[in-house]
Amino acid sequence: MEKFTLVTGGTGYIGSHTSVALMEAGYQVVIVDNLVNSSKKILSRIEQITGSAPVFIEADLRDTSTIIEIFSDYPITSVVHFAGLKAVGESVEEPVKYYDNNLGSTLSLLDAMALSEVSTLVFSSSATVYSSSEIAPFDEAAELGPTNPYGMSKYFIEQILSDIALGDDEWSIGLLRYFNPIGAHPTGLIGEMPTGIPNNLVPYIMQVAFEKLEKLFIFGDDYETPDGTCIRDYIHVVDLARGHLAALQFLEDANGSHVWNLGTGKGSSVLELVKMVEEVVGKPIPREVVGRRSGDIPVVFADVEKALNELSWRAENTLMQMCVDHWNWQRQNPDGYQ
Ligand code: NAD
Ligand code: UFG
Repeated sequence: MEKFTLVTGGTGYIGSHTSVALMEAGYQVVIVDNLVNSSKKILSRIEQITGSAPVFIEADLRDTSTIIEIFSDYPITSVVHFAGLKAVGESVEEPVKYYDNNLGSTLSLLDAMALSEVSTLVFSSSATVYSSSEIAPFDEAAELGPTNPYGMSKYFIEQILSDIALGDDEWSIGLLRYFNPIGAHPTGLIGEMPTGIPNNLVPYIMQVAFEKLEKLFIFGDDYETPDGTCIRDYIHVVDLARGHLAALQFLEDANGSHVWNLGTGKGSSVLELVKMVEEVVGKPIPREVVGRRSGDIPVVFADVEKALNELSWRAENTLMQMCVDHWNWQRQNPDGYQ
């Protein structure tokens, strides 16, 4: 009998790239998503890339009875759990919405998994769980201390999942702490298309390059970094997707809970990124330096040794490739999946 992997949030940015990676590795994929931040139109794009369409079920993960039904309809043996809300600023304004959606979805999923005796789970966590008092590179043992409700929701879920694995050694759980995913599939068929004005640096720069937005506002150039702008660990979304595959394969032969950073281990500043995009698009990016954004940490990058040693996985794409692929996607899909 064929075995299926349930991908929650699989029509989203990282979930779609991971679905492609799983399908290309021979996994049968069932996607469940309520489309709150994605479009069904991505399914035909996934089919164009992989040659087959994943099963798609439109549902809210908090609807436990529907999720239980999905487990009884398909022989699911593992889950990759992306579904969640992710805008840091919105989470500060509407914390209950974030706790309800992110925690509620996870608890509902865990109920359905326990009932169906499925115990292999990969979870999308974030580097935002690390304490701002830590100094880069961050390894997995670094102190935790998120500073906003979005980050707290990831922290709480990590804690719940670790407790579950501790209480029952049937479970095999991977907590993946992503750094800054950017880029798009090299075909330009799938990528990230934020609704409204992007919050994150690279989608914003790309829309400036595309002349959808007038100029980039750089949030501070007076940090203690070589050029004064903040440093982040940008990782190509396709490398990130491969990281999920590596984690899932590890977990299939393991038990307990495991945590891995997924980053490149290399930091790049806002200005370095702007210059890289200028090179790729062949024109200057209009910009203005403004005040610091509240809550920003000057330097964030990963220690990636643990993922390399345990998963034999490392990010391979250069910052240039990330920008080339992101720009290619932006140009081919000025209005996303419309
Ligand atoms: P995304 O918004 O593109 O994808 C998330 C998907 O989950 C969307 O398709 C959305 O419709 C779906 N969803 C949300 N709530 C749901 C619910 N209750 N039921 C069913 N579906 C629901 O985001 P992404 O960038 O692909 O992020 C995926 C995961 O990775 C998220 O959990 C996010 O917090 C985490 N993460 C993202 C980043 C990043 O920078 N993109 C960094 C660290 C962690
Ligand atoms: N920045 C600008 N101008 C912009 C947008 C961003 O100068 O218009 C700067 C920010 O100040 C920061 C850097 O670009 O210094 C990167 O900002 P992003 O918003 O792209 O990324 P963050 O590192 O702040 O946050 C991201 C995700 C979070 C996640 C975190 C994990 O948005 O969800 O990475 O490290 F938690």
